[in-house]
Amino acid sequence: MDVARKVSHNSGAGLSKHDVTYWHKKTKVPLSLASAVEPYMNRGLRLLDLGCGAGRVAHHFRGGFSEIWGLDRSFQLLEQTGNDVLIAHGDMCRAETWSQLPPIHVIVSNCVLRKDRCDLRRLSGLMAEGLSRNGVAALRVQAEDDLGMGYDQFYSKQELVDGLREFEVEISDERYRQKFSSPDYLLEFLQRIDLPSKAVRHTVLPRHYYLVKCRLGGV
Ligand SMILES: C[S@@+](CC[C@H](N)C(=O)[O-])C[C@H]1O[C@@H](n2cnc3c(N)ncnc32)[C@H](O)[C@@H]1O
Repeated sequence: MDVARKVSHNSGAGLSKHDVTYWHKKTKVPLSLASAVEPYMNRGLRLLDLGCGAGRVAHHFRGGFSEIWGLDRSFQLLEQTGNDVLIAHGDMCRAETWSQLPPIHVIVSNCVLRKDRCDLRRLSGLMAEGLSRNGVAALRVQAEDDLGMGYDQFYSKQELVDGLREFEVEISDERYRQKFSSPDYLLEFLQRIDLPSKAVRHTVLPRHYYLVKCRLGGV
């Protein structure tokens, strides 16, 4: 794909404290998210990776869309996305961030929607406006009991349905157990995803995500 790179420095919040090298090395895309987006590939559509970080999800779909955009509030991470991702810098809950984008057909997002990162009602309205008439979104969201440590940063299924009011929503569950190699590594992981540390009792934790498919109308 040969698309010009677009850079905007003057929108949204400041630099992220994320470790750029760490996120750049993440290349695997969850199967649930890949399967949800694959039906829209090779149809000349425009994709937006919402909260793209260093662009691992955007990269996975390279070649399958007419344009791929990445939106993130961290300019450091956006810089890692490479030449074939068009970038929009800023807070996804602000209209001025979306004003950098052309109409989008498909939104994809991995591990971004959380109560401490976005106001879902506001984001839902902006997503609905930013999508073309028959647009769709596939959002992978940490469920309220993810990690089993009583965090209150995550949306429940009902809160997702209520917040994404502009959309027809279908939610499926993804559950597995994750083994962390040591308590120190687990604490490092929590820090990387902006969760406060807790006393670690186990290094095998239950993981629970929602795959939220949103539809404004049939593409
Ligand atoms: C856990 S990382 C996931 C990155 C990427 N989606 C991936 O799967 O590799 C969350 C990303 O969301 C971005 N983010 C969080 N809240 C945001 C907001 N309100 N507006 C824009 N980006 C946001 C962060 O800067 C970070 O890059």
